[in-house]
Amino acid sequence: MIIKTAIFKGSSTKVEQRPAMKAPEYAFIGRSNVGKSSLINMLCGQKSLAKTSSMPGKTILVNHFLINGSWYLVDLPGYGFARTSKKAQAALKAMIEDYVSHSQELAMLFILLDSRHELMEIDRSFISAVAGADIPFTVILTKSDKLSKSALERNAASIQASLDTIRPDITVIPTSSDKKTGKDTVLDLIDADLKNRKTITNNTKH
Ligand code: GTP
Ligand code: MG
Repeated sequence: MIIKTAIFKGSSTKVEQRPAMKAPEYAFIGRSNVGKSSLINMLCGQKSLAKTSSMPGKTILVNHFLINGSWYLVDLPGYGFARTSKKAQAALKAMIEDYVSHSQELAMLFILLDSRHELMEIDRSFISAVAGADIPFTVILTKSDKLSKSALERNAASIQASLDTIRPDITVIPTSSDKKTGKDTVLDLIDADLKNRKTITNNTKH
């Protein structure tokens, strides 16, 4: 899969405000500062398509990027950012929940975890809720460039073991937006999912 065009199509706070053209959506979620926006830029081969910041809490709206004119990458605000008002935290939580539970076009949720840390309680409860709701998801480990190869392997195995207690078949993909690793694995997964959707649609037409 090659991304030829990536166009910002708008920001929303509610599912009904999404872009008018409906298409499969691949959305990125995870704690604030985990690297969601950076990963979208890396996948698209652009530096600042999605706004990034070293300060957590940068993305505060649901942002749609139309890819190759036919599907969306969706940048979501982070969860678990404590250094903001209770009201702002509640608004972000509502926005994320509204998107995750009501987007009919959500094809897959990529749940991002920092490869340097153990699975945190907030991630565990989010992943458990998504798994329980039967929403297709894949786990992505970010910032792998900050670890040695052996430390990354160790952490990835430990995270996978924790995820196994939620569900035993969760796919985990290590990535680095800085070093551009994991790009093909993520894009191939999206490509396979899009093709699978086409087959299902064609079969149900007969
Ligand atoms: P919010 O929108 O605040 O929820 O954050 P986000 O998850 O979108 O994170 P963002 O992409 O803005 O990145 C946060 C910080 O981490 C920035 O300073 C990035 O440069 C840095 N970062 C993101 N990905 C990587 C990576 O793969 N390697 C390294 N070394 N730094 C990264
Ligand atoms: Mg962001």
